[in-house]
Amino acid sequence: MDFDIETNEKGNLSIGGTDAMELAKRYGTPLYVIDEEKIRNNYKRVYSAFSTHYKDIKIFYACKANTNLAVMRVLEQEGSGIDAVSPGEIYTALLAGFEPEGIIYTGNNVTDKELKFAAESGVIINLDSFSALHRLTRICDPNEIKISFRINPKVGAGHHEHCITGGELSKFGIMEEEAVEIYQRAVDMGYNIAGIHTHIGSGILDPEPFMLAVETLMDVAGRIHQEGNIDLEFIDFGGGLGIPYTPQEKKLDIQNFAKEITDLYKNKLNEYDLGKPTMCIEPGRYIVGDASILLTKVNTIKQSYRKFAGIDAGFNTLLRPSMYGSYHHIVVANKPDAENTQTIDIAGNICESGDLFARDRPMPEIKEGDLLAIFNAGAYAFSMSSQYNSRPKAMEVLVNNGESEVVRERETFADVLTNQNVPVRLLK
Ligand SMILES: Cc1ncc(COP(=O)(O)O)c(C=O)c1O
Repeated sequence: MDFDIETNEKGNLSIGGTDAMELAKRYGTPLYVIDEEKIRNNYKRVYSAFSTHYKDIKIFYACKANTNLAVMRVLEQEGSGIDAVSPGEIYTALLAGFEPEGIIYTGNNVTDKELKFAAESGVIINLDSFSALHRLTRICDPNEIKISFRINPKVGAGHHEHCITGGELSKFGIMEEEAVEIYQRAVDMGYNIAGIHTHIGSGILDPEPFMLAVETLMDVAGRIHQEGNIDLEFIDFGGGLGIPYTPQEKKLDIQNFAKEITDLYKNKLNEYDLGKPTMCIEPGRYIVGDASILLTKVNTIKQSYRKFAGIDAGFNTLLRPSMYGSYHHIVVANKPDAENTQTIDIAGNICESGDLFARDRPMPEIKEGDLLAIFNAGAYAFSMSSQYNSRPKAMEVLVNNGESEVVRERETFADVLTNQNVPVRLLK
C-alpha cells in the first residue's frame, strides 16, 4: 500500500500524533481530521522536486480542493499562491492573507459581475473564451489588469470522465489554433499579458498525457512569442497530480516527474527563445488529498439479503464514492491492522441507493458503535459536501504534534435553515 496508516501504542489509528478514538469521543462524528504536517510536507516535496531543476517556480494551490481557511493559512505560510475558480474563492484567498498578485483566477463561463470582481481584486485573470475577453474590456481598463489565457491542448486525462478538462469534448480553454489570434487581439486592446495556462484534468498518475500537454503548451507559447512578438512572464501547466487511493495504486514519482517536465520546459524555452518565465503548477489534490481522514461511526449492522454497515456520514459528507465511483480506503479505527474476515457494503445515511462508500469491501469484523476511518478525504471532500436531506455539515479539526483544534464548527439545524424566508401569507 502506498499510503501510511499510523497506529499508536494503544493500537488505535493515529493522525498527526492524535488518537482517532479520542478525537471522535471529544468532537463527535462525522469528523474531518486534517493533518497540518502532511500538508506542509506535501507542499515542500512538490516545490523542492520542481525547484531543484528550475529555480523560478511558483505553486498556485488549487483551493477548490479544500477551502478551509486554516488549510489556506498553512499554505500561505509555506509560500504558495492560489488558483481560484470563483469570486468566492478569490474572497476566501484574500481573507486567508494571500496577496492579489499571488492569486490566479481561472473562471469558466464567467459573468460580467464576476469579471469585475476579479478585476477590482487585482488578481491575475486567466480567460478561456473570446467572449470573456471582450466583456472584460467593456468593464475595466485593460492597462490595469494582468491577463493570461487557458489553452486547450487537445489532450486530457483524469481519474474519471468528469475530471478530464482538456480535449475536443471539453468546455474549457481556447483551442490551440486560436491562441495566437486571441493573444494578438488582447495586445491590440491594451492588455498586459502575464502568461499562458493549461489544465488537462485531475487525478493523473501517469505522466505521459501531462508531458504531452506540457509539450503542446510550450509549442503554443513559442508561436505566441515568435508570431505575436509577445513575452510571457509565466507558463502555467495547471494541476492534476494524482495520489494513490486504492492499495494497488502507486505514488507518483514526483522527483522523476518534475525532472522530465522541467527538462522539456528548458529545452522548449531554448528552442523558442522564450527567456526564463516563471514555471507554475496548480496542484490541489496532491497537496491536501492524503492529509485528511473522515471519522464516522457505524450505527447499524444489517445482515439479511446482503451485509451492510450503516454509518453516520453520507454522500452529503463525502461525495466522491457516489459521484465518481471513487475508492476510499476504510479501516476500523481501534484495530487498523486487523485482518479482513468478511466482505461488506458500507452505506451512508442518505435516502438514495447510490449512497454507498464501498460495495463488497473486504473488512475485519465490524460492530455497531465502531469507528471507521475513511482515508484520503482531504481533496474534493468537505469542499463538495452539502446539506442534502437537511443534514448539517460535518466538523473539521486540524491536528498537529498531538494537538487538535476545531477549524470548522459542526453545523446545526439553524445553519440548514439559513437564508430561507417563508412568505407571511403562508405562515401559520
Ligand atoms: C484550473 C485548475 N487548476 C488546478 C486544478 C487542480 O487539480 P488537482 O486537484 O487535480 O491538482 C483544477 C481542478 O479541477 C483546475 O480546474
